Amino acid sequence: MKKIPVIYWSGTGNTEKMAEAVAEGIKSAGNEPILLPVAAADVNEIASYDNIALGCPSMGAEVLEETVFDPFFSSLCNSLHNKNIVLFGSYGWGGSYMTDWESRISESGGTLLSPGLLSLGEPDADSLASCKALGETLAKA
Ligand SMILES: Cc1cc2nc3c(=O)[nH]c(=O)nc-3n(C[C@H](O)[C@H](O)[C@H](O)COP(=O)(O)O)c2cc1C
Repeated sequence: MKKIPVIYWSGTGNTEKMAEAVAEGIKSAGNEPILLPVAAADVNEIASYDNIALGCPSMGAEVLEETVFDPFFSSLCNSLHNKNIVLFGSYGWGGSYMTDWESRISESGGTLLSPGLLSLGEPDADSLASCKALGETLAKA
């Protein structure tokens, strides 16, 4: 059984719901999710895992949340070489931040297992099912 961190930032709970569904997918694939808001995550510990799920909504003007999540992610990027990564997050009207985020994964040498998963606002049942499938994909990598 692999331990797989699901690290997220969420202001109003939408990305948190996505994170919970990703964790559910990891569990249903027989592995153990470590579900943590980014403020409670230690970057050195998270860097020690081979498979990592990261969630953050679009904030600012199409950027990652800048106070806590982006500094965490920037620091984690130094350790992503050859690690399996999935990305997810909620957005309100744009969503292009995901393309930049995906590029940062490839630049760091990480392996993005599938395109970043977006949900417009609160995730509906279909979106939650996609999050669960994303967790299963990560667990099986
Ligand atoms: C300060 C702020 C900035 C935002 N900037 C964007 C943006 O640039 N593009 C976008 O699509 N949504 C933007 N949003 C909308 C959020 O991404 C959206 O409400 C999302 O569902 C929040 O997810 P959460 O509930 O996980 O915090 C912004 C919201 C806030 C509060």
